Amino acid sequence: MKRIAITGANSSVGKNLLTRIAQGTDFEALAGVRSESVIPSLPDSDHITARTISYDAIEELTEAFQGYQVVVHLAGILIENRYSRYQSANVDATAAVIKAAKQAGVNELVFISVVGADRHSANPYFRSKGEAEALIEESGLTARIIRTPLLLGPDTAGARSVLWSASQPKAKLLGGGNYTMNPLDVDDLSRAVLNCCRAMQAGTRTLELVGPEGILYRDLITRLAAMRGNDITIASVPIWSAKLGAAIGSRIKGGGITPAVIDVITTDETVTHNSAEELGVTLTPLQKTLEKILEQ
Ligand SMILES: NC(=O)c1ccc[n+]([C@@H]2O[C@H](COP(=O)([O-])OP(=O)(O)OC[C@H]3O[C@@H](n4cnc5c(N)ncnc54)[C@H](OP(=O)(O)O)[C@@H]3O)[C@@H](O)[C@H]2O)c1
Repeated sequence: MKRIAITGANSSVGKNLLTRIAQGTDFEALAGVRSESVIPSLPDSDHITARTISYDAIEELTEAFQGYQVVVHLAGILIENRYSRYQSANVDATAAVIKAAKQAGVNELVFISVVGADRHSANPYFRSKGEAEALIEESGLTARIIRTPLLLGPDTAGARSVLWSASQPKAKLLGGGNYTMNPLDVDDLSRAVLNCCRAMQAGTRTLELVGPEGILYRDLITRLAAMRGNDITIASVPIWSAKLGAAIGSRIKGGGITPAVIDVITTDETVTHNSAEELGVTLTPLQKTLEKILEQ
């Protein structure tokens, strides 16, 4: 059995991955979470050991990774709050994971990044993911960086958001939802991650993995609404006014939706190459993914 240590194990991707590991026979996993209270929400299995980890305590993190062969680093955020900023969640946590993995003798790492990650980006989210990627590239670890788009699956923020919009008689979408995305089924991402864990050739590779169909966000909502039997109307919220509201609201709350998050959401996804084949994944058709999230 291959032994993998997962950070951010209570994330939506983490739970999906653990469910798959619990059902299989070829992996044993450490499910690393920041708080004891979320452990009961994780899949329960003889193949899974859940424990708390801290990204501020490198020696403890090193001890947690000891005896594992691969680290799957999932901890990361798009929406900041008072306690969790891009620097701490996306950059510093990655630096801690790299250091602890090396000290523990774990030489392989899988990291989930985002389509558009760029250490030189003016957008702080894309920049933080790009900085995390750069830390990994410079670490000397054997690594696979998987850049993903909006993820759809149980518990994902993306699925919750599209299901809510599609349930409204009149959905008010940013810029009328006129931006293109390539939503990825979270089951496909989990398969890709586990394929990387099974066998990784030396070196670092950055691979984009996106869904099989590019679609305007407004068309995604209209399609999902039709599947629910909802004859929906799409209305437009001007992006400038949403950004103004977000700037004021996020300043008061110390986080939440910011103008930067609105830019992330409404940027057309540009993908140079879909690496599904290299990652050994047959992509789930979008229609099937939508049926799955409607069932949940
Ligand atoms: N969902 C998407 O559409 C999407 C798209 C592209 C990339 N990704 C990336 O995929 C990964 C998993 O995403 P997800 O949507 O499944 O995540 P999620 O459900 O939002 O969970 C976020 C995880 O990050 C942890 N976290 C938050 N702040 C942290 C901090 N300061 N230090 C360390 N850990 C922290 C959380 O732990 P607590 O519960 O303890 O706060 C939780 O385990 C993330 O790296 C994300 O950036 C996701």
